[in-house]
Parts: sequence; C-alpha cells; structure tokens
Amino acid sequence: MAKNETTGNRPTEDFSAGTIAWRSPSNIALIKYWGKKGFQIPSNPSISMTLSDSYTETLVKCRPSQNSGNISFDFFFEGEKKPQFGQKISTFLEAVFDIFPFLKNFDLEIHSSNTFPHSAGIASSASAMSTLALCLCSMEQQISGSINENNDFFQKASNIARIGSGSASRSIYGGFVTWGKIDSLPETSDFYASPLKTSIHPIFQNLRDTILIINKNEKAVSSRAGHGLMENHPFAAARITQAYQNLDELSVYLSDGNFDGFVKIVENEALTLHALMMASNPGYLLIQPGTLNVIRKIWDFRKQTGTNIVFTLDAGPNVHLLYPERETKTVRDFIKNELLADCDENKIIDDKLGEGPKKLK
Ligand code: PMV
Repeated sequence: MAKNETTGNRPTEDFSAGTIAWRSPSNIALIKYWGKKGFQIPSNPSISMTLSDSYTETLVKCRPSQNSGNISFDFFFEGEKKPQFGQKISTFLEAVFDIFPFLKNFDLEIHSSNTFPHSAGIASSASAMSTLALCLCSMEQQISGSINENNDFFQKASNIARIGSGSASRSIYGGFVTWGKIDSLPETSDFYASPLKTSIHPIFQNLRDTILIINKNEKAVSSRAGHGLMENHPFAAARITQAYQNLDELSVYLSDGNFDGFVKIVENEALTLHALMMASNPGYLLIQPGTLNVIRKIWDFRKQTGTNIVFTLDAGPNVHLLYPERETKTVRDFIKNELLADCDENKIIDDKLGEGPKKLK
C-alpha cells in the first residue's frame, strides 16, 4: 500500500541511455526507529544526525533493454560482482517497480563503493539504499525532461529509500533529520523523512562522531529480524510512548543547547535499543564485552573531567562517540589513552555532522 504513495507523474519522453551518479552519507539515529507496522512504516518517529565522510557513491549506467518486461541489472561493489548485495538490490528494484515502470525498458549496470570499509561493522544500508533511490529519481527526472532537484524530488527519494531500508529515508537530508509522523510537526510523515525544523544550538552544529570499531564482523541477527521481534514484544507499547517523549525532550535540548539533557536522552535511547533486543523472544545480544568496557570508561571520564561527550549505539557492538567540535583534542587524547585498546585492531572512524547527498557529475 505505502509503496504506491509516491507514484506521481509518469515520464512521457523517451530517454534511451545515460549515466547517473549520486553520493549519499550514512546516518546515526539519536532517537531510534525500532519496530515497524505494515510495509516499512515505523512504529515510532526517529531523529538522526547525518554523517559527512562515511558515504556510498553509486553510479547507474542505463542502456535500452534487450529483455523487455523484466528488471535487468548487473551490480558491482567496488569493482566486483557481489551476489549477496545483488540479491538485496534485486528485492529493492522489484519493490519499486510499480513506481518506476520505465525500469523494464533498460539494462542497468550499477556500480557502488563506500568510503568506509564494508566489513567495518558500520551499517551501510542507509547510504547504499539512499544513493540508489536518488539515482532512480534522477533517472525518472531525465526521462521526463526535468532538471531541477526540488523539495518534491528529495521527498520522493526519501520515500523510495525507505522502501529499501527505513533508516535510508533519513540519509536524503543533511543535519538533524526526522522520520515518522509527529502530530505537532506538520512537515513530518511516516512515508518520508524531513530535516528537523527546530533551531539547532551552536554546540550541536559541529557535532563530531568518532566510531569505535569494537568488532568488524557482520552481526548475528539482522535489523530486519530485530524489527520483526518487536511485533509481539512485551514492552512494545511502553517503548513507543517512551520514543515520543524522548523525541519531544531531545528537540528542546537541541534548540536550547542543553548538553546534559542531550546525554540523558541519547544514552537512554542507545541502552533501550539493546535492552529491547535482550528482552525479545528469543533474546539476543549484539553488544560485546568491549562495548561495555568503553561505556563504563566514558561514564567515568565524563564524571571526572566534565567533558561534553556522549555515546550512542547502532544495532551492533560499535560505539559512536559524539562531542562538540571544541572538545576534539580532549576526546582524541581520551580515545588514544583509554579506548583504543578495546577496539578491533585499534580501528576508529572519524566523522561529523554532514550536509547530505550530492549529485556527481
Ligand atoms: O533501517 P533499518 O531497517 O536497517 O533499521 C535501522 C534500525 C536502527 O539502526 C537500529 C535504528 C535507526 O533508527 O537507524
């Protein structure tokens, strides 16, 4: 049902061949999306910060199809065919086929690469699915002869990205981004993300994110399975109520510059996400001993030094360390002296709040 929400105008003119490319970043949720209702509709609204340097670039070459009627594509990741990724792309293209019926007229060659190592334990679905969504929307635009990427273009790209991966809907925009209907914010929707309109205090405008790679292996339970386990979860209703309350509070702190309030909500969201996993049936654990060591050290360090530093977690063992730009030197020293020992092969990735996707020439 929801995937047809974007059908819009059908392209009319004949576009026979071309190349389209986009760069789109990953994002980290501050208020977590966990659990869905219906087709890719979030159980609760979420807020994320878009990253800057962890991104995917996707280039799509389109040629007239020899194989009319079906979706036809070859997928290359960093120059090589990767069947497990190709399968995900195939599922996605089939899911959006109704929205982009012109796909049957083309053979596609899709080339993707990430700036972060794909086996670094960082979720790449947000950047990967958002770049592909942007490429498909650009392809539709070229077919219809339109040239401008306006609000409708990005809204549609966000809606399409959501079909590939919920969190990908938020990667379409830079800064702080919300996805999921919030009654008090008319611009919000369950179908697409939108930039958070709240004014953002300077302390959060140059937020940095250093990702501590505790374990780079693929996680044992996918997010898809985790969302599914929220369906009959004993704490599902309470979680939804909590997410709305946390979101309201976080919006106020982002605008007031209340870093202690920010810490309270962001860490509560990270720990709740993993508590929900542990309390699922069957329960499971994605955090590891290194994750807990790092969290304890962050709490001790913050207490002793008063540094503005906060952690969050994605669906995995790695720790995102967020801090204002002005704390960079202090935090870098802390990481080097105390946290690096808990990282897989001393691996960290330095990133920061980013501006969102970019069309490539
Ligand atoms: O977008 P998905 O289906 O991979 O789910 C993402 C879920 C979390 O990363 C745990 C939270 C979020 O809001 O990004």
